[in-house]
Amino acid sequence: MHGCCPIILDRIPQSIPCPERAAAKDGCIKAVGQADVIRNEFSEASFERIIDCSGKCVLPGLVDAHTHPVWAGDRVHEFAMKLAGASYMEIHQAGGGIHFTVEHTRKATEDELLATLQQRLGRMLRAGSTLVECKSGYGLDLDTELKMLRAIERARRSTDIGISSTYCGAHAVPKGKTATEATDDIINNHLPKLKELKLSGEIHVNNIDVFCEKGVFDLESTRRILQAGKDIGLQINFHGDELHPMKSAELGAELGARAISHLEEVSDEGIVAMARAKCAAVLLPTTAYMLRLKQPQARKMLEEGVIVALGSDFNPNAYCFSMPMVMHLACVNMKMSMNEALAAATINAAYALGKSDTHGSLEVGKQGDLLIINSSRWEHLIYQFGGHEALINYVIVKGKVI
Ligand code: NIG
Ligand code: FE
Repeated sequence: MHGCCPIILDRIPQSIPCPERAAAKDGCIKAVGQADVIRNEFSEASFERIIDCSGKCVLPGLVDAHTHPVWAGDRVHEFAMKLAGASYMEIHQAGGGIHFTVEHTRKATEDELLATLQQRLGRMLRAGSTLVECKSGYGLDLDTELKMLRAIERARRSTDIGISSTYCGAHAVPKGKTATEATDDIINNHLPKLKELKLSGEIHVNNIDVFCEKGVFDLESTRRILQAGKDIGLQINFHGDELHPMKSAELGAELGARAISHLEEVSDEGIVAMARAKCAAVLLPTTAYMLRLKQPQARKMLEEGVIVALGSDFNPNAYCFSMPMVMHLACVNMKMSMNEALAAATINAAYALGKSDTHGSLEVGKQGDLLIINSSRWEHLIYQFGGHEALINYVIVKGKVI
């Protein structure tokens, strides 16, 4: 039965952050610690299943703080264009990029979107992600945005992976509208409808997102949309300072944003403001890699005390499901240590989603989301580049072996 199978993970080598033994019950972690101490607390007979983890490691389930997993069509042809030298914004301004995906997503039915979403979430789960943020944002009009959010809601109810859902109706300015018209439409039509659906319990939406970028939504439109989202109870979690310095970080800090993603072009003042405001930086190494962007200054952020998280940014531009690969890129390209990358892909990513009280670490009372790694050194999860499904013996969500 879902979440009801208590689990003991036995004989785990003592290597931080792997507890020797952890027990999960009713979906939550009941105990973490030395085998003999736990053995005294629980009678063996009360456990439905005991997993022998000799020679293995136990880690918290990975948390992916930024994904766009609901869309139709793909953009493999654009990957070829980018390899030939076209920039992301050139393709976008010529009507491709997000606009291409919007065209295809508008035509897809909710069931079709749900089916591909479930497959993608399954791949994320197999790569070790147990909680993922999922954005809308390829509809731009109200009906399609709601279709995407409904697909996310249905996936949330029907799949094991945890979901934090994000309304991202300001992902691009729809064709035929100005940014001001799109901003007004979002504030006057989209958000009131979302509020109604949220209140009725029909759709759970957790976060609001805007693509704050030159040629997309400027700082003022971004401010208006994010503030209106906050006013209906959404956490602010948006795309900023990616391709151009926009002062997105300063704005996010001022508005009390929970997190800002990308930040390749963040200013020094923005970094300090984010540290002070405890606004998480969600760094996306796949995008910086694929678009050959300047790398975000992870080291500077860490030194200034910013809460640094990681996300896959899975989307038709950055087609990567795998947080282990994201951690690898963060270490090699952004100079993070393996410990920093793991914290960024677990507890800090949970913080970026407002879920660090319940997710992101192996602590008593938190949700029993864990991975059992087929190696006595957990670092293999980062060191090995690809093929992680073979390295991850078990993915466990709410105490249930998936
Ligand atoms: O985070 N930068 C904006 N949004 C996405 C890309 C979306 C797309 O190109 O479809 C990102 O990289
Ligand atoms: Fe994104």
